[in-house]
Amino acid sequence: MASQDVAYAIETEALNLWYGTFQALFDINLQIKQGRITSMIGPSGCGKTTFLRSVNRINERLGYVRTTGSIEVLGHDIYGPDVELVQIRKQVGMVFQRPNPLPLSIRKNVIFGYRLHEGPHRLGKAQRDEIVEGALRQVLLWDEVKDRLNRPAIELSLEEQQKLCIARLLPVKPAVLLMDEPCSALDPKGTEAVEEMIWELRGRYTILIVTHNMAQARRASEECIFMLLGKVIEHTPTGELFVTPQNRETADYIEGRYG
Ligand SMILES: Nc1ncnc2c1ncn2[C@@H]1O[C@H](COP(=O)(O)OP(=O)(O)OP(=O)(O)O)[C@@H](O)[C@H]1O
Ligand SMILES: [Mg+2]
Repeated sequence: MASQDVAYAIETEALNLWYGTFQALFDINLQIKQGRITSMIGPSGCGKTTFLRSVNRINERLGYVRTTGSIEVLGHDIYGPDVELVQIRKQVGMVFQRPNPLPLSIRKNVIFGYRLHEGPHRLGKAQRDEIVEGALRQVLLWDEVKDRLNRPAIELSLEEQQKLCIARLLPVKPAVLLMDEPCSALDPKGTEAVEEMIWELRGRYTILIVTHNMAQARRASEECIFMLLGKVIEHTPTGELFVTPQNRETADYIEGRYG
């Protein structure tokens, strides 16, 4: 579907979004670099989740959402007339606040998405094992689970479940991983482990991660976007945003003057 040689994995132009008559996103013009980790911060209700959900078009499942402007993923307009939703969902994977493994074994969780996208033809055992191991290694989970791949995924700790939810996106080779507060259900140790894992994925995937945790945005992202009331206020390398914010609103937020 997409060429790999564009500079930006995600590019939006004049993106506006309404839930019914309520406008949630205003004139969003963003360029998100390929292979980087970009964090998105901002007070509750500023449109972070809405933006993420626009990038794989799950917002429109709610019949009353209207979008104008454009979003390109790897140079292709995902709201264009010839776009297949299945292709977008393959290219753009998403994880949520609470890990949501399927009520299946660890192994079957990893292979499920691949089967869904690649069709019902049977994979050989060796091929299947290779896919499962490859994905679990990428999320730093292989050593912990290699001897219990047939155990139910639900037996894993929350931190391990979240890693598994990321692992199961990988076999279809997505370009973009969207993460909506992926550590918010985890304790500090689990958060640290998942952050370390996300950092390891740097370069291989374009990662857009929403967080309320300012320390996490600073530690675990290379670029940072600050949003307020449905608008992008600032988008710079993370170091600059936290040290020399260009806008009063950004400074107020990172210094804790908003909720
Ligand atoms: N399904 C929906 N229907 C109607 N309005 C919605 C819907 N989802 C979100 N909104 C509204 O859109 C605005 C943006 O919400 P969104 O969930 O994107 O914010 P957020 O930045 O992710 O907030 P939080 O940090 O609390 O997760 C809010 O005013 C919210 O009430
Ligand atoms: Mg949200």
